[in-house]
Amino acid sequence: MNKKIHIIIGSTRPNRIGDTVAKWVDEHVKAADTGDFEIVDLADWKLPMLDEPVQAMVGEYTQDHTKKWGEKVQTADGFIIVTPEYNAGYPASLKNALDYLYKEWNDKPVGFVGYGWGGGQDAVRHLRDVVARLKMNALQAQVSIVFTQDTHDENRQIADPKKALEPHKAELVAMIEELQKTLS
Ligand SMILES: Cc1cc2nc3c(=O)[nH]c(=O)nc-3n(C[C@H](O)[C@H](O)[C@H](O)COP(=O)(O)O)c2cc1C
Repeated sequence: MNKKIHIIIGSTRPNRIGDTVAKWVDEHVKAADTGDFEIVDLADWKLPMLDEPVQAMVGEYTQDHTKKWGEKVQTADGFIIVTPEYNAGYPASLKNALDYLYKEWNDKPVGFVGYGWGGGQDAVRHLRDVVARLKMNALQAQVSIVFTQDTHDENRQIADPKKALEPHKAELVAMIEELQKTLS
C-alpha cells in the first residue's frame, strides 16, 4: 500500500505564497507517483493558540480540535513541511500546530521546503531542533527556494511560479527519494 504523506502549509496569512509553493510540491510528487500525498493547509484547520491544560507528551487531549488534529496527523506516515521565513524563524502557526501533538509526530520522517530571501534556511534550521524534540526523523535533503528581485509581482505573489520554482526541482526530487528510502 502507498505511504501517506502530508504536505503541510506552514503559513496561514491572507495573500500568502505558501499555497502556491505547496501546489508546486504536490504536482511534482503526484507526477512521480511515489506515495499518497495530500496538502494539509493549517489555514483550513484554524487551530486556536494552544489551549490544552497539559503538554501533548502526556497524551490527555481535552479539546475537540486537538483530537481531530491528532487523528488527522496520525493517518500520515511522513510529512513535507512547506515553510516561509518570518524574522529569521518560521511562522507561529506552524509551531502552534506542532506543539498541539506529540505521539502522532513520533518516529515519522519529515522533509522541509523553505522559501525566503535566504531560501528559508534560518526557518528550517530552527525547525530541525523542534522536530528532533518531537522525535521525528528529519531528512537531510531540503528544498531552499531563494527569492530574487523579480520573484514577486505587484500583489506580492510569485510572478512566474515556473521560473521561480522549477530551478529547485532537483532538490525536491532528491528529498522525495530520501523520503521514499526512509519509508521503505
Ligand atoms: C512577519 C514577516 C517576517 C518576515 N521575515 C523574513 C525574514 O526574516 N527573512 C526572509 O527571507 N523573508 C522574510 N519575510 C518575507 C517572507 O519570506 C515573504 O513574505 C513570504 O512570502 C512569506 O511567506 P507566506 O507568503 O507564505 O506567508 C517576512 C515576512 C513576514 C510576513
